[in-house]
Order: sequence, then structure tokens, then C-alpha cells
Amino acid sequence: MTSLKDDTSAAPAAPFPTGFRWGAATAAYQIEGAAGEDGRGPSIWDTFCRTPGKVLRGETGDVAVDHYHRFPEDVALMADLGLTAYRFSISWPRVQPAGAGAFNTEGLDFYRRLVDALLEAGIEPWPTLYHWDLPQPLEDKGGWPERETAHRFAEYADHVHAALGDRVAHWMTVNEPWCAAFLGYASGDHAPGRVDPPGSLLAAHHLMLGHGLAVEAMRARRPDNRFGAAVNLYAVSPATGDPADADAARRIDGLQNRLFLDPLLLGRYPEDVLADTSRYGFTPPDADLAVINQPLDQLGINYYSRHTVAGTPGEAAQTASSPFATNSPWPGSGHVRFVPAGRPVTGMGWEIDESGLHEVLTRLHREYPSVPLYITENGAGYDEVPDGDGTVQDAGRIAYLDAHLRACHDAISEGVPLHGYFTWSLLDNFEWAWGYSKRFGLVHVDYATQRRVPKASARWYAGVIRRGGLPE
Ligand code: NOJ
Repeated sequence: MTSLKDDTSAAPAAPFPTGFRWGAATAAYQIEGAAGEDGRGPSIWDTFCRTPGKVLRGETGDVAVDHYHRFPEDVALMADLGLTAYRFSISWPRVQPAGAGAFNTEGLDFYRRLVDALLEAGIEPWPTLYHWDLPQPLEDKGGWPERETAHRFAEYADHVHAALGDRVAHWMTVNEPWCAAFLGYASGDHAPGRVDPPGSLLAAHHLMLGHGLAVEAMRARRPDNRFGAAVNLYAVSPATGDPADADAARRIDGLQNRLFLDPLLLGRYPEDVLADTSRYGFTPPDADLAVINQPLDQLGINYYSRHTVAGTPGEAAQTASSPFATNSPWPGSGHVRFVPAGRPVTGMGWEIDESGLHEVLTRLHREYPSVPLYITENGAGYDEVPDGDGTVQDAGRIAYLDAHLRACHDAISEGVPLHGYFTWSLLDNFEWAWGYSKRFGLVHVDYATQRRVPKASARWYAGVIRRGGLPE
């Protein structure tokens, strides 16, 4: 293969600061496969994938892109891209099969090997401790709506940190607690597939409590490490100037963004969201907020799109996170319609709006205490088919990444402390309820042969990294 670094073009028109992290992201269940190997226990996604009608075409992460066996090749791909950092997740059921009690050395050894290979290649490892694969035995005991799960998570996190904290400096606790709580327990579009709005609010609270307890434990061991969480934030706009639309935007912004940002960064729940959700008896103990509100060394932002919402009757847009979506993932939102704003969409049907990323970044800088920010996910999914020669000319993805990186560059110029960008994703992979039908990778994977072929976007991103910024 010609090296992705072969392109030697001029200095960037939009340079990024020296030391800016250029990364790509993945998650364990979406790429590893080896579901039954080396003592890994079952997770809620193993169970969910086997429940008819939950995942498109009944696909599973049993094999995924076989990263568990092919990680040396994947690390070589990262090195060829010139990545300076790699975000991946650690599978809890691989490390602690029952989610409590005995730890599985073989499972942890996989991550030791991966971290060593990354360091060897000069790539900084950025693990996330929870990217949705809860050990099934914990779900059998009540899952995230149970307070005990937060304690189990902290214990597992502490164990992984004890093993890797000497070689891994940057740690993310939970990924997208909005999805884990509301797609998992309110709409049921994601594992464990429960439709339990009061339980989903407790799940959100316990995911954040687990984060706080884990940071406390890990920081006590190594105060020099860097700790944070990755949240999925949206820009939210009212569809019109109608006050009903403005109120719908307030409610969705509350449930999507402030419900997580306020406890994590300000140590309190937003009053209006507590009022909106009061019918569900959601009364989180005040004492937990001090635990949740750990000082953060880094906040991860996963950004994909903007929500445009209306509170008035009319036509709604398709914003489903699953092809089978029927229930709402918005407990307490009242009547809200997600309306098309007329922008082009990716293959997920998500509107492309880089101005929303700029808005999210500048808002964080303005409304929340200063925390180093990282884009921990941003990317575009399409139903791609390679050309005859196996290549993918993904001009749409290049345009998406270019536009969003320009928004990052603008925000940095305005003083926003953004220190890195991880595109989603390194490789095509298992896109949850959509199975393998949607591809987000810079690198195409032929699922029949597991052959990896970098797409045009991989070459483009390698050029951006090499130049340290965007082309003219
Ligand atoms: C968010 C999730 O963290 C990741 O797992 C998912 O594949 C991407 N967004 C795309 O939907």
C-alpha cells in the first residue's frame, strides 16, 4: 500500500496549535469481536442482538471487525495515518465477566498488549471505561437504574486503572450517558431495550455517579493522570419564533445537554429539567452531586448534528436512532416534534450542521467553568459501496470532516480551550441497532474477508495531520 503520508503538500491555511491531539475513536463491542474468547462474559449487547427485531438483519458484534485478533494491523494503520492519539473502549465483561467479583486476567492482558503496541507506535492511548457493554449479570440485578451498578463500575474502573495507570495518562469514564440511559431504558432502541422512563432517569443519575466514584478512586491512586467523561451534545434550535417552539427547545436542551453538563460541571441539576420530569418521581440525593462534580481534567464532546424542534402540532422529521424506533427517548419532554431544517443529511439522516459544533464549543466556554475540551467523536455514516478496485471515494465524509474541523479552528481562534479531535471512526464497524448497514470509518472493512482499505478520507485526514491543519 502507498503510505498515507506520501502526500507532501504545502503549509496549512488553518493551522492548529502545536500539541493538538489528532485522533480517531472506536468502541469495544463495535470492533473487537471474539465475544466468547479468553473468558469474556456476556454483555447486554450480546443479549439485545439476539432479541428478534432489535438489530437490523439480526446482526451481532460476535465477530465485528475482529480487532481482538487484528489489533497489530490496526495499530499499523493508525501509525500510517499519523494519528497522535487513539480513543478506544475497554470491555467491562472482558475484564470482569460477572460485573462483580473475580477479574479476568486474560481480558485485561488484551488491553495491556494494545496499550503497549500504541505506545510503541508513538500513539497516545485514550481509553473509555464504559461504552455501553454492561455485563449481563448486572442488568439481571436491575442494571443502571440500580444504585449498586455505579459502585460496581467504580470498582471495575479502579482495577483497570491499577493495571494501566502507569502507561495511560488520559482516562474517560462513561461514553454518552444520554444514549446509555435514554436509548437503553426509555425508548428501548439500545440494550438492554427497556421502556421505563422513571428508570431511565435513575440510569442517567447512576451513570454520572459511577463516573464520580470512578474518578475519585482513580485520582487517589494517580493524581497526575487526566480524568473526564464523554457526553453527546447537540445544538438545539426552535423551529420558529413561536413561544411553544422556544419552550420545546428549552426542554430538549435540558434533557440532552444540561441534564449532564450541570451535575458534572456545576454540581447541580437544572431546576427546569427536574420540574419537567417531576411526574417520574426523580429526586436525586443532593449528597451525590458532590461526588458527581469531580474536578475534570478533560471533557469529551461527541458532536454529530443539531436538533430543530417545535412544540406546536405538525409534521415531524425522522430522527430515529434505530430502524425499529417506536418509543420516545425523552422522558418528561412533553409534546416535541423534531423538524427538518432543510440542510443536507448524512446516510444516517442526520442534518449536517457544523455551525452547531461551533455553538456547542463556545457555549461550553461561556456558560461552564473552564475545562480542557476534546472532540471525542465527530464523523459521518453512509451506506457505502466500494468501487471495482476496492476503494471508497467518500467525498461526503471529507466535506463533513473539513467543515467541522474549520468550526473547531474558529472556536480555538476565539479562545475556546479545545485541545484535540478524535474522528468517529477509525474503521467501519457495528453501528448498534443499525448493524453493519451504516459505515463511519476512515478505513473500509470488507466484512466477509476483514480486509481493510483506507478510504479517500483516510488519505485526506493523514494530510491534515501531517500539515497540522486544514488545506486552503
Ligand atoms: C456515538 C457512539 O458513541 C458511537 O458508538 C456510535 O457508533 C456513533 N455515535 C455513531 O452513531
